[in-house]
Amino acid sequence: MADLKKLNVLMCGTGEYTTGWTGSGASTSDKKIGVVALTLFDLRRLDKVDHLAMVGVNGKKFPEIRQHLEKNIAGVYKDMDVSFEEFPKNGLVDADAYKVAINQMSAGEAVIIFTPDSTHFPIALYAIERGLHVLLTKPATQLLAHHNTLIEAAKKHNVVCFVEHHKRFDPVYSDARAKAATLGEFNFFNAWMSQPKSQLETFRAWAGKDSDISYYLSSHHIDICCWILEGIAVPTRVVASAATGIATSEPYNCVPQTEDTITLLVDWQSVKSQKHKGTAVYTASWTAPLKAGIHSGQHWYYMAEKGDINVDQAHRGYDLTYDDSGKSWVNPFYMKYSPSESGHFDGQRGYGYISIEKFIDAVRSVNANLTQPSDYDKQALPTIANTVLTTAILNAGRISLDEKRPVGIKREGDLWILE
Ligand SMILES: NC(=O)c1ccc[n+]([C@@H]2O[C@H](COP(=O)([O-])OP(=O)(O)OC[C@H]3O[C@@H](n4cnc5c(N)ncnc54)[C@H](O)[C@@H]3O)[C@@H](O)[C@H]2O)c1
Repeated sequence: MADLKKLNVLMCGTGEYTTGWTGSGASTSDKKIGVVALTLFDLRRLDKVDHLAMVGVNGKKFPEIRQHLEKNIAGVYKDMDVSFEEFPKNGLVDADAYKVAINQMSAGEAVIIFTPDSTHFPIALYAIERGLHVLLTKPATQLLAHHNTLIEAAKKHNVVCFVEHHKRFDPVYSDARAKAATLGEFNFFNAWMSQPKSQLETFRAWAGKDSDISYYLSSHHIDICCWILEGIAVPTRVVASAATGIATSEPYNCVPQTEDTITLLVDWQSVKSQKHKGTAVYTASWTAPLKAGIHSGQHWYYMAEKGDINVDQAHRGYDLTYDDSGKSWVNPFYMKYSPSESGHFDGQRGYGYISIEKFIDAVRSVNANLTQPSDYDKQALPTIANTVLTTAILNAGRISLDEKRPVGIKREGDLWILE
């Protein structure tokens, strides 16, 4: 890949996932120096990317963001250039600055979107319609109709559009998928994902208003389940239930419609055998206990005709104890922030990094005419086309909660629709 043209990339969103800088300072989560910008700075060092730009809404944040990146990335790893072009410029505040930034780009360049859930669709569509390749964070869109529109648009403009489902690149998850393929008909899947109540402070701006905890966290394991079940079963019906009362009470006082814990109960139909049906339960919570030694609780269980699989991604058999903060379980398989023996960034094998690198490699390969965007749909990668059922289930879950009814999922011609 070394002689392929370097790629120019625009990062949309300047928050926790992109830079590790949140409105209230450096993130206190497991992403203190972010994922996207750090990975792209390293890929620039390794000659895969070239010009980098970043767009947010509030241009006044950039001096602090630059200081944070200088100190914690350039000041820690050798040979790291943390420069980037900013939008909006001159400290302006502009929610449409992404249009200005995108209008200055050339077809074939790339946009990586980590912005609030409700903004994913308009920003991604704007970029795709201008011939730009897009990596979009989860949940790709909140509505199935929007997801279908992005599939169509990416096809029409012949661009790569991936959803950043990084768990697919966790060696445990991808191995588990291969093992699941040997276990016959699907029977039962149960996933739990949680974050501590303190996240209700971090997410105050949008929690319960703009999105919910199912979209935010269950999107991960719904995607993994859909990916495992490709060619095995399809979802047919979703019923949702929510626990409430903690987020809307002291000291969090979230808006009245905020749920604490959302469970989606999903019926799956085997694609090969009419009599085999499966059940999946996807639960997500942002009211888990504080001080549990983990940032995200995450485990799942898969049972099929000939065996089962258990994964606990929160406890990797690696824990630390500090006198002041107690025990914590850490996961360097996701982002490894400790430098190499030569003093360089050393996290190239982390699945948070790999997920972004795979997108950059695919785009450079397409730009060099070595591959077509549609090739990646056949490779079980999280392309926009391959992730449509994840959005179908999440959207059906939201409708089920709002309208207090089961929601059907079915295929009509080439389209997945909700009933
Ligand atoms: N933080 C994580 O651990 C994590 C992990 C995976 C995925 N995500 C996803 O990332 C997205 C949010 O990213 P975050 O966690 O960095 O959030 P954040 O709240 O820290 O940052 C959001 C950023 O989006 C920007 N933004 C908002 N509207 C915009 C617009 N119209 N144009 C350009 N920028 C805009 C804001 O300026 C801000 O910089 C969510 O969809 C979330 O599901 C986050």
